[in-house]
Amino acid sequence: MELTRITPSIFYVGADDTELDLFESQYVVPEGVSYNAYIIMDEKIALMDTVDRRRTGEWLAKVEAALDGRTPDYLVVQHLEPDHAGSIGAVLERYPSLTLVLSAKAAQMLPQYYPGCIWRLLPVKEGDELSLGTHTLHFVMAPMVHWPEVMVSYESAERVLFSADAFGKFGALCRGGDWDCEARRYYFNIVGKYGAQVQALLKKAAGLDLAVIAPLHGPVLREDLGRYIAKYDLWSRYEPEDEGVLVAYASIHGNTAGAAAYFAEELKRQGCPKTVLTDLSRCDQAEAVEDAFRYGALALFASSYDGGLFPPMEHFLCHLRDKAFRNRRIVLVENGSWAPSAGRVMTGYLEGMKGLVQAAPTYTLRGAVKEADRTALSALAEALLK
Ligand code: FEO
Repeated sequence: MELTRITPSIFYVGADDTELDLFESQYVVPEGVSYNAYIIMDEKIALMDTVDRRRTGEWLAKVEAALDGRTPDYLVVQHLEPDHAGSIGAVLERYPSLTLVLSAKAAQMLPQYYPGCIWRLLPVKEGDELSLGTHTLHFVMAPMVHWPEVMVSYESAERVLFSADAFGKFGALCRGGDWDCEARRYYFNIVGKYGAQVQALLKKAAGLDLAVIAPLHGPVLREDLGRYIAKYDLWSRYEPEDEGVLVAYASIHGNTAGAAAYFAEELKRQGCPKTVLTDLSRCDQAEAVEDAFRYGALALFASSYDGGLFPPMEHFLCHLRDKAFRNRRIVLVENGSWAPSAGRVMTGYLEGMKGLVQAAPTYTLRGAVKEADRTALSALAEALLK
């Protein structure tokens, strides 16, 4: 079996999954996803995480090939979420002498997934080290990147950071693809809420001499590592990455959509460098969340519905609230034929988010877009771009 070597002594033993319909049962992954895992070969052998149960067999076969008849000593469990820890039971069945190396929190949570397990555990804390021979693992706690038990591991001989979910992306390795796009969608939808914790991890990682970043999803990163770290720094500070406006609409019969399209054209006409128009009823809302964080301004257009807000917009606002959306300029447009209510509900959601600046009062449409509306929407565009 041909194995991918990460460094002279470290192999990739993870697996692609191009058959998964929804990651975490909610995110479309048209290019699949990879469950990364690694093995460090030395006097002592360490497995770095396992894989989702969907790929246990493939992973074990690669591990066996890398071992070449030897027996592993340690399984380092950096993250207990089942896409990485789902095969712990299977590997312990095959190699019962393994010692699990994990954070104290992970040790506490382990029986939730493996009730009654009586495995050999080696809980580690911040700064602890584990010598494998010529390689040494240094453990760095990374709570809430993305669960509370997460830790990352730095191998100092070959300067490899095993970064858990951090620096991961959607997309199977066999499919390739641009890192920024799917790493950004992954970041804001999976880890976006935990910017402060990501900042804390970046501060700790700043002192490390890095040659390789080996995440639990997506490609192993080897070149221009500062670029990836700078992206994570920017994203976790909730600062816009690009100048531009996301115009997101939820329209029942097309009139609100027409207003949003007119508004987007007005933005362009007035010099906005980038305008993204998205239909929240039909788009991948994870992509819309990504774009909301990516650009500096957000325009929301929504129909009223049952005395409240048309559900596709409500879903979007729930996602933004849950991911701690903040620090952007916004404008709101509601549509309602007899008792407009969308603006009130949108405002309720947005009031709970930090640092939003509403550039102009909520504008109310009544049905189709008329000449007076066009004039008002042009003024709204101007206010947003100020
Ligand atoms: Fe890839 Fe938080 O698991």
